[in-house]
Amino acid sequence: MDPRSEVLLRQAELFSGDLLLAGLPADDLLGQLPGAVGWSWHAGVQHSLQTRFAGRCTFGVEPPTAPFDSAVLFLPKSRELTDFLLNALAARLPGRLLYLVGEKRAGVERAAKQLTPFGEARKLDSARHCQLWQVKVTNSPPAPELPTLAQRFELSLADGPLQIISLPGVFSHGRLDRGTALLLDQLDGLPAGKLLDFGCGAGIVGASLKKRYPESEVVMLDVDAFAVESSRMTLAANGLQAQVIAGDGIDAAPEDCAAIISNPPFHQGVHTHYEASEALLQRAASHIRPGGELRLVANAFLKYPPLIEAHLGRCETLITADGFRIYRAQRA
Ligand SMILES: C[S@@+](CC[C@H](N)C(=O)[O-])C[C@H]1O[C@@H](n2cnc3c(N)ncnc32)[C@H](O)[C@@H]1O
Repeated sequence: MDPRSEVLLRQAELFSGDLLLAGLPADDLLGQLPGAVGWSWHAGVQHSLQTRFAGRCTFGVEPPTAPFDSAVLFLPKSRELTDFLLNALAARLPGRLLYLVGEKRAGVERAAKQLTPFGEARKLDSARHCQLWQVKVTNSPPAPELPTLAQRFELSLADGPLQIISLPGVFSHGRLDRGTALLLDQLDGLPAGKLLDFGCGAGIVGASLKKRYPESEVVMLDVDAFAVESSRMTLAANGLQAQVIAGDGIDAAPEDCAAIISNPPFHQGVHTHYEASEALLQRAASHIRPGGELRLVANAFLKYPPLIEAHLGRCETLITADGFRIYRAQRA
């Protein structure tokens, strides 16, 4: 059980009604709270909960439309995303209770200050390195409109300008990451066919690929619903067509790709997770057609080449700059 869920279950009597668990972990909390439903924006969590508690969790960037009497937000990483989520929930709970739970090292104490516009917040519990906060929503805000919270910026690419739209919580929100910038400079000579942008974020790489290779089918994949929505917005803003998939890891990707291009994930929340990137390197070969390639950017300190060579083929470094490397490997 996730420690945040354990903290909720210490006060289970508070959570017996029609409760919405927003951003819940993939544990047994729905099993322990039969009146609760979930809202997830993580495709892996959603898949796991759907398998075990069919129909009790919805996936997306907006709260489920069905009414709820109270809600718990599991603190996400981004302050801006927290702000959107708290407002979206408080808008649905006038006169009712909204809770916030999170790990201390994730900054729950600081995030609890974001409850004060809605009413008087109080700390209910502190255990398992987590805190649980509650506010009675005496000052219910209007429902926030997600597109108004998007950040927009323009990239000047060799193929022309590209509008980027990113939503709160999405990687490198509102700006171009240095690693991504390096990757954008190294997109020449990709094989023709299906191109996969793995971990597409706001869609910068995928949209650039479609602009550079308009004849190629571009597929973009991300685990996060806000990234998927951002990528769709970026494509639309540039009049580009590509398939955008919400999925967890390389196993959710199509097969027979001519190339997989990625700035792969290596941070998630307060924990560092390499699993999705390691799985990508280990299993990319089964999604790349013979002669196709994997091209990625990574921090120079990450030991990716031995993994790539063990599972795909010879790994070439195209460039090293600003602490990043661009790797290229071809499937035999
Ligand atoms: C380093 S960011 C790169 C984003 C974008 N390509 C760019 O360069 O701006 C990595 C992305 O991988 C996504 N991600 C993390 N874990 C994932 C997983 N298991 N499956 C698919 N995408 C994942 C994150 O949501 C994030 O958008």
